[in-house]
Amino acid sequence: FLHTEPVQILDILCLLLWCVLSPVVVVNVDGSLVQHPLTCLGSFNREEEGWRRDNDWIIWMMDEEEKKKGNSFLVNLEERTGGGIFTCHSLDKTLLKNTTVLVKHLDEEKRILEGSTRTGIQDVCFMKCSTRNYQGEFHCSWKFTPTRFGTVMFVKVARGLSDAENISCSVDASGQQWTCSSSSGQSDIMCSVNSSGLGVSCVDRQYCPYAEETDRITLTIYMRTNYLLEEYSKCFYISEIVKPDNLSIKKVNSSTIEWSYPVSWNRPISYFPLSFQVKEIEGRKCKNGCTCDSPYTEVRTTVHTTESSQWSVKAKVTVCVRAQDALCDSPWSDWTEYRSVPHSLVYCIQQNLSSRTPSCSM
Ligand SMILES: *[C@@H]1O[C@H](CO)[C@@H](O)[C@H](O)[C@H]1NC(C)=O
Ligand SMILES: *[C@@H]1O[C@H](CO)[C@@H](O)[C@H](O)[C@H]1NC(C)=O
Ligand SMILES: *[C@@H]1O[C@H](CO)[C@@H](O)[C@H](O)[C@H]1NC(C)=O
Ligand SMILES: *[C@@H]1O[C@H](CO)[C@@H](O)[C@H](O)[C@H]1NC(C)=O
Ligand SMILES: *[C@@H]1O[C@H](CO)[C@@H](O)[C@H](O)[C@H]1NC(C)=O
Ligand SMILES: *[C@@H]1O[C@H](CO)[C@@H](O)[C@H](O)[C@H]1NC(C)=O
Repeated sequence: FLHTEPVQILDILCLLLWCVLSPVVVVNVDGSLVQHPLTCLGSFNREEEGWRRDNDWIIWMMDEEEKKKGNSFLVNLEERTGGGIFTCHSLDKTLLKNTTVLVKHLDEEKRILEGSTRTGIQDVCFMKCSTRNYQGEFHCSWKFTPTRFGTVMFVKVARGLSDAENISCSVDASGQQWTCSSSSGQSDIMCSVNSSGLGVSCVDRQYCPYAEETDRITLTIYMRTNYLLEEYSKCFYISEIVKPDNLSIKKVNSSTIEWSYPVSWNRPISYFPLSFQVKEIEGRKCKNGCTCDSPYTEVRTTVHTTESSQWSVKAKVTVCVRAQDALCDSPWSDWTEYRSVPHSLVYCIQQNLSSRTPSCSM
C-alpha cells in the first residue's frame, strides 16, 4: 500500500515559484494506512555518497518536534489525517527543505463545502453556477460547512477537453486569478477567486454568443483546509446556467404597465428572445404584505409570452413578472414585483403633480 504517485495537480502547483524549496505534495488516501516517502536532499553524487551514507546529520522535524535522523522520512497518512509541514535541517538547524503534505481522500464524502454528493461524476450540489447573459462570463459560488473554512489551492477550468489533453493553468502574483488554456488554443478561460473566498468569477475568452456550444465547460476547484485537500467539479453549458437579471417594470398609465428586457441581456432580442411569466396576486389575499415568492395558490393569471410587454393592471393587485431564455430550459429570473395602487390614490398622485396643491384626502 505504498503510494508514491502524486496526483496530477502537483505538476501544476510546481509552476509556482516556491515549488523547489517548499514543495507541496498531495497524497491520495483510500482509508487504509498510506506511507509516503520524503527525501531531504536529492540524489547524492557518488563521491559524497560514502561519507553521507548514514546521513545522520539530517534532522526531520514536524511542528518544532524532532522526528528522525537521515535523508528520508516516511509520512504515515490514514483517513484524513497525517498531513502537515515536514522540514529537514542540518545539525546547526539550517533549513534544507520544507515540504507540505496534503491528504486527499478518494471517497465521495466531502468535508469542506456544504452540499451532498450525488452518485455520478459531478458534484452537482456543492457549487452553484450562474450567468446573467450570453457574454461568456459566469460565476460559481459555494458555502463552507459550519466548522470549516477552506481556501482555494488550485483552479482548473476548460471547455471540452478530456483529462488526457494538455491544459496549462497559471496563477497571477495575487494568487487569486487563474488562467487555463489548452495547447491547441481551443479553450482559454480565466477565473478569479473573489475576495470573500466564496466564489469564482470566470470569463471564457473563446466564447461566441452566436454559435451553439458544442462542449461543456468543466470547472474544478481544489479546496484546502488545514492539510486536507478536496476536489469539487461542475460541468455545464452556458445555456444551462443562464438566469436573466430582474426585469424593469414601468407604468404606462393608471391601468397599464410595461416591462423591458434586462439591460444586461444580449441584443438583438430577436436573436436572444426571452419568455415571460406573469402572475397576479389579489391585494386582499395578502393583507400582511406578500411578495412574489410567497407560495400563494390564488394566482390569477400565469402567462407565457415572448410577445407583448404591456399588461393591464387591475386595482389592488400585485403583478409579478419574470423571464427565462425562450429557447432553453434554463433558470427563471427572480420575480420583479409591481404593486398597483388603488385608482383613487393614483388619481391623487396625478392631481398632486398637476396642481401642486396638497389637497389629497384618502
Ligand atoms: C514551511 O512552509 C510553510 C508554508 O509555506 C510555512 O508556513 C512555514 O513557516 C515554513 N516553515 C519553515 C520552518 O520555514
Ligand atoms: C502534452 O504536452 C506534452 C509536453 O508539452 C507533449 O509531449 C504531449 O504530447 C502533449 N499531449 C497532448 C495530448 O497534447
Ligand atoms: C463573492 O461571491 C459570493 C458568492 O457568490 C458573493 O455572495 C459575494 O458577494 C462575493 N463577494 C465579492 C466581494 O464580490
Ligand atoms: C393606457 O395605455 C394603454 C396602452 O397604451 C391603452 O390601451 C389604454 O387605453 C390606456 N388607459 C388609460 C386609462 O389611459
Ligand atoms: C430583483 O427583484 C427582487 C424583487 O423585486 C429584489 O428583491 C431583488 O433584490 C432584485 N435583484 C436585483 C439583482 O436587482
Ligand atoms: C400629495 O402632496 C402632498 C404634499 O406635497 C403630500 O403630503 C402627499 O403625500 C401627496 N399625496 C400623494 C398621494 O402622493
